[in-house]
Amino acid sequence: MQEILNELERRRGQARLGGGERRIAAQHGKGKLTARERLEVLLDEGSFEEYDMFVEHRTTEFGMADQRIAGDGVVTGHGTVGGRPIFVFSQDFTVFGGSLSETHAQKICKIMDQALKLGTPVVGINDSGGARIQEGVDSLAGYAEVFQRNVVASGVIPQISMIMGPCAGGAVYSPAMTDMIFMVKDSSYMFVTGPDVVKTVTHEEVTQEELGGAVTHTTKSGVADHAFENDVEALLELRRFLSFLPQNNREAPPRRATQDPWNRDEYGLDTLIPDNPNKPYDMKELIVKVVDEGEFFELQPTYAANIVTGLGRMDGRTVGIVANQPMVLAGCLDIESSRKAARFVRFCDCFNIPIVTFVDVPGFLPGTSQEYGGIIKHGAKLLFAFAQATVPKVTCITRKAYGGAYDVMSSKHLRGDVNYAWPSAEIAVMGPKGAVEIIFRQDAGDPEKIEERTEEYRRLFANPFVAASRGFIDDVIMPHGTRRRICQALRLLEGKRLEDPWKKHDNLPL
Ligand code: HXC
Repeated sequence: MQEILNELERRRGQARLGGGERRIAAQHGKGKLTARERLEVLLDEGSFEEYDMFVEHRTTEFGMADQRIAGDGVVTGHGTVGGRPIFVFSQDFTVFGGSLSETHAQKICKIMDQALKLGTPVVGINDSGGARIQEGVDSLAGYAEVFQRNVVASGVIPQISMIMGPCAGGAVYSPAMTDMIFMVKDSSYMFVTGPDVVKTVTHEEVTQEELGGAVTHTTKSGVADHAFENDVEALLELRRFLSFLPQNNREAPPRRATQDPWNRDEYGLDTLIPDNPNKPYDMKELIVKVVDEGEFFELQPTYAANIVTGLGRMDGRTVGIVANQPMVLAGCLDIESSRKAARFVRFCDCFNIPIVTFVDVPGFLPGTSQEYGGIIKHGAKLLFAFAQATVPKVTCITRKAYGGAYDVMSSKHLRGDVNYAWPSAEIAVMGPKGAVEIIFRQDAGDPEKIEERTEEYRRLFANPFVAASRGFIDDVIMPHGTRRRICQALRLLEGKRLEDPWKKHDNLPL
């Protein structure tokens, strides 16, 4: 018997070695952890249970019959993060470059099926040379099986993609369909076609990093939601991120006890808004002052920074925060910021995360590049997302809420549940100067008259009281009481139930 037990241990030891010491050293040499080391950082100590450790590929061509490595380039199974179960797959670059074979894909599909059945998140750690070249169509079929599961699981369980090495060709489409993509700087990249093909087709010379590195995808394309310095930081931040989420779409996010009093007044907020309405201020100052213990997990911080999105907690409850940022492009809405916020709002709505919206928006960005780029459809995405969301929605207008952007930013008219404004709010069709230039064009040559009219417009419309008199604002609140009022609203809205009429699905303006 002992021999049989020893044989199991020998086989396990062999599987754990993956592609062997030399390739592990090469992986470390690139500043990357191995597939198993990554799971050790991500999961609670000792919680990992592995599936399919002994699975091997079935290919015989190109000498593959005598190149079989137990596990076939991906480590799969489940473990816990903060005591709650998740399913994981972690591609092992030391085994055939982490390339995806038929059996490699079957291992991933197995844990995805289990996760969907049990209602637990799936984390995929991607580090792969793409389709197993020796296998051909079997590998492509494997990818498609994963894609199909990504789509079925979307909106049911959280799916997070960690990009921690190459991710190229059609392989990028699985992460693209998951909820979040986190990358590691200098050691990960994603592109549909690599630099060589780009050079042949378009004659552009570009490095892997420039084409699809973490900085590119978190500043230019907006494909990724966060870039981290190294593997360890990325995985620890993922643990923190998961702590905000429910296990699935039928659960509420976990509530965390906090020492931060829900009714804490923040007198610093009374002077946040500058006297000059054209002077910017940092919206993030407001966010960190109102959330529990100042903890805010920002998403896409370096992309479309004119809108801020991220997760925090208020009175222990997870909230998704959407806020215009006056420091960038005066906080206006444009193509990128509309898409960024729309996707975030839909993410929150999928997973029962209440949405808190802070509004200071002068309108949509004008210009041919915006119109030619389809701002009409992209802006409509954000409008659609807010209008569609049935989670609790609390809105606070701090300063400007002009034009269509007023409607879009979780207004009362889009089923906003509790809508507040600070006394400094200006809710109007447009700013006083622009308004007067249009409706009193005949007085353009008379600066004194224009000034008088502007002042009149400001007095009549550039305040929250007209909207409040219509009931479009539930209350005008003191800035220092913002946390208290929002926490109260969230408590009230805990029992919110809102259902739309049956439909197969909507037709989101894509
Ligand atoms: C089989 C692969 C492989 C692959 C890498 N390897 N990619 N084996 N299929 N796709 C193996 C290498 O042979 C090598 O084996 C080991 O992995 C490490 O690779 P290196 O090239 O030594 O590593 P590195 O220099 O870091 O370069 C990594 C790389 C490069 C940039 C990923 O390996 C590469 O370009 N690979 C091919 C990428 C590719 O074209 N894939 C197909 C894309 S199309 P040894 O034994 O020497 O360690 C695709 C379609 C998906 O994926 C469609 C979905 C619908």
